[in-house]
Amino acid sequence: MKKLVKMLSLMMAVMLFTGMLAACSGKTGGKAGKVDVGIVLPTKDEPRWVQDEQRFKDALKGSDYTTEILFSQGSSAKEKENVETLINKGIKVLIICPQDGDAAAAAVEAAKKEKITVISYDRLITHTDAVDYYVTFDSVAVGAAQGQYLIDHVKGKDMPLYLYAGAASDNNAFLFFQGAWSVLQPKIADGTFKVANSSAAEGLKEKQELSREELSKILGQVTTNWDANDAKNKAQTHLTAASAALKGDVAVLAPNDGTARSIADVFASDGDIKSYVVTGQDAEKASIQYVIDSKQSMTVFKDVRTLVKDAMGMAVTILDGKKPETTGTYDNGKIKVNAKQTNVIVVDKENVKKELIDSDYYKASDFKGL
Ligand code: GAL
Repeated sequence: MKKLVKMLSLMMAVMLFTGMLAACSGKTGGKAGKVDVGIVLPTKDEPRWVQDEQRFKDALKGSDYTTEILFSQGSSAKEKENVETLINKGIKVLIICPQDGDAAAAAVEAAKKEKITVISYDRLITHTDAVDYYVTFDSVAVGAAQGQYLIDHVKGKDMPLYLYAGAASDNNAFLFFQGAWSVLQPKIADGTFKVANSSAAEGLKEKQELSREELSKILGQVTTNWDANDAKNKAQTHLTAASAALKGDVAVLAPNDGTARSIADVFASDGDIKSYVVTGQDAEKASIQYVIDSKQSMTVFKDVRTLVKDAMGMAVTILDGKKPETTGTYDNGKIKVNAKQTNVIVVDKENVKKELIDSDYYKASDFKGL
């Protein structure tokens, strides 16, 4: 009898203890601080991704699903750490914009092992089959629009053309440059433009369709690594080396707004540059002000609200156990990834109000001289 009482009280104690454990760590039959959808963005140091963070937050207000946004601060190691943190929080869907398309494979393969659905966001994760979906803008069209803008504003023959590109670790950088080259190459070959800062591009001027290797050669010479400082240093080096024949009225292919402003400032401060047409991308607020002040010629507006809506829409469809709608595929070097792609809009001084203020993307009060 005594033994039985002793057994029962012991069992009571064990049950009491485990109950307490669960209570103190907030576990209610699941993982602590559970998150349904994890979102990983490349860096806070570029205005573009801070835009996306805000648009995600706006879109998620009142959502039933729990989400968490983490930044990788330009590091693939930090990115992997972020993904592991989110896996430990029980995510079922991972929305990730890779810092480096290839290096991100390890992080998403870890997520796949946990049966998490992976959505590549804006940039494609490459050379892995651990990607289920891809939401993006038409990046080739971004480059083609930038190239066409320079053609539409050309002055005379042999107009010096300065080429700049994004980071080679970013698959988008190849798509942007491919798009620009597809429209610029015929105009370089026929002498409308004269390449001013890349022997690789000059050497390929008779070739419209470039291989990945040929694109890599050019990017190797004109990449900005998506860094405003690198862009500034490169532009200064190119203008210092340029002869008078490569100055005067010039055309500048800048890959995005962050780099466009620093390149434009360098060209504006060179007394032998009479005028310059410079492209951009992302419709960052600071660049919209530059466009209004005629210090940057154009930008390619990518409505991040749409990309966020597509990504979160896919996530909710997946959480509801259904298959999301896609509009095509992208070959990531290993598999064909089901994708949803959004169009882009060219913005310059003529339509800045219509495309960015009337659409409530920005407020008129965000700018001077509108
Ligand atoms: C690209 C992105 C651009 C751009 C850039 C730099 O992948 O599509 O919008 O800003 O990265 O972060």
